[in-house]
Amino acid sequence: MIADLFPGDVAVVTDAELGLDDAALLASLFPVEVEQIGAAVERRRLDFAGARACAREAMARLGVPASPVLRGARGVPVWPPGLVGTLTHTDGLRAAALARADRVRSVGLDVERHAPLADGVLEAVSLPQEAAWVRAARAEAPSVAWDALLFTAKEATYKAWFPLTHRWLGFDDAHITLVPDGDVGDGMRADDGVDDDGVVRGSLVSRILVDGRTVDGGPDAVEFRGRWAVRGAHVASAIVLRPAGVASVGS
Ligand SMILES: CC(C)(COP(=O)(O)OP(=O)(O)OC[C@H]1O[C@@H](n2cnc3c(N)ncnc32)[C@H](O)[C@@H]1OP(=O)(O)O)[C@@H](O)C(=O)NCCC(=O)NCCS
Repeated sequence: MIADLFPGDVAVVTDAELGLDDAALLASLFPVEVEQIGAAVERRRLDFAGARACAREAMARLGVPASPVLRGARGVPVWPPGLVGTLTHTDGLRAAALARADRVRSVGLDVERHAPLADGVLEAVSLPQEAAWVRAARAEAPSVAWDALLFTAKEATYKAWFPLTHRWLGFDDAHITLVPDGDVGDGMRADDGVDDDGVVRGSLVSRILVDGRTVDGGPDAVEFRGRWAVRGAHVASAIVLRPAGVASVGS
């Protein structure tokens, strides 16, 4: 489900593909990474190591030697020169998505448990029009936690935004539009976006509502586009921003 969210020139790896047990994951860390995470509780160390093991496999698939992935300012992952990437971890899933910087300018991936947000959280993380859309979608297709999906789209937006700008982006600072596959604009239907495997998918647009000045020498960050999916225990959103003049490739 996660790999399908990205075009073919993004290397996407989940920990289930690696087949490494907890001891092997921890043993795969570089000494500088152990220095950074060594004092954390075990669950955090395993998430940190699991996401990095995925990143290392993605580096191999891109033909890049394995290297440490440290946390930089405000937690941003620091990639070797020439790469962009994003990490996520949640109950039962750790993942990394990496690409060559000449193909992809920025990337964001967020996966969460497929469960409704706690009371009051939707209002805290959404614009009024986004919350209204979530309520309408919930009425049409109650089996999908649309609020959790919106939340992943917001966090994927932040993960793509921060490396470009080195600035905070609040939950009110981007407007997300989620469009289920097959939605022809006449309102949600319960089967919109549901494929034969029971995966609900669609596309997303994240419109930046604040000053989008960037620090990478590229144009302002104005709008991000991506894909989302809901399957079984997880909801996920992914964003890929291309450099000017670079076209997408098929998945
Ligand atoms: C940073 C944040 C997005 C992480 O999301 P999360 O669901 O808590 O956690 P995930 O497991 O999915 O992702 C964790 C990874 O995010 C990445 N991350 C953390 N800070 C980051 C930043 N400033 N920029 C890019 N990626 C970042 C890291 O790789 C981290 O993994 P690591 O700690 O092992 O290195 C979240 O904690 C946060 O601060 N959100 C508020 C900002 C926001 O979402 N604004 C909405 C804009 S519309």
